[in-house]
Amino acid sequence: MSSLSFFFIFSLLASLSHAIELDFCVGDPSLPRGPQGYACKDSSTVTTDDFVYTGFRGEKATTNIFGNNVTLAFSNAFPALNGLGITMGRLDFAVGGVIPLHSHRTSEVIIIARGSIIAGFIDSNNTAYYKRLEVNDVMVFPQAMLHFQINVGRTPATAFVSLNGANPGLQLTTPSLFAGNLPGDIAEQITLLSHEEVTRIKRIFGTA
Ligand SMILES: *[C@@H]1O[C@H](CO)[C@@H](O)[C@H](O)[C@H]1NC(C)=O
Ligand SMILES: *[C@@H]1O[C@H](CO)[C@@H](O)[C@H](O)[C@H]1NC(C)=O
Repeated sequence: MSSLSFFFIFSLLASLSHAIELDFCVGDPSLPRGPQGYACKDSSTVTTDDFVYTGFRGEKATTNIFGNNVTLAFSNAFPALNGLGITMGRLDFAVGGVIPLHSHRTSEVIIIARGSIIAGFIDSNNTAYYKRLEVNDVMVFPQAMLHFQINVGRTPATAFVSLNGANPGLQLTTPSLFAGNLPGDIAEQITLLSHEEVTRIKRIFGTA
């Protein structure tokens, strides 16, 4: 074995054993993110506050087109989650507000904190599983399934979610079709919606 490859293997083992010895790796979002997450913040600068997220405090404005406000405590907003394989979110709903159909790479649990919500998901056999949830009820959405929530109560609603991934992603079906760069004629063909409907929805997102 050349001394160069010996040195390479030795440094690889040294860095792996170093990684195993770490209690945690608070991310440094100012550095580029790799597939395994962010590089660790210098541990001598880590404080208790790094492990606390206060972004869920207070009232959230629910004035967007869906009548919702989604606050994501993913690892870029809450760097202590880096590498731990968990994330959280707070969902706020106006009366009648919705979280439109979307999916993540991970599974998700939801707990209702205020109000009354119909939550559901649709499996790959097009079977919908949905139920009206009340305060303190919990439901799980298996990974990658399309799912949604609707505030069906007479008051604003709030729920908290947790996802079992550091970078679960969030893909919203309607915006992915109509808010991005997909041409309207392609959107018509792949959804069977009429030209008028596609134009109406694209206008909502300012893309027609
Ligand atoms: C969510 O609520 C916060 C606090 O009211 C507000 O600053 C923010 O603009 C809201 N986001 C959306 C998308 O409405
Ligand atoms: C798929 O859904 C149909 C009804 O739409 C049902 O008859 C069938 O058993 C389902 N298949 C599976 C594998 O769940």
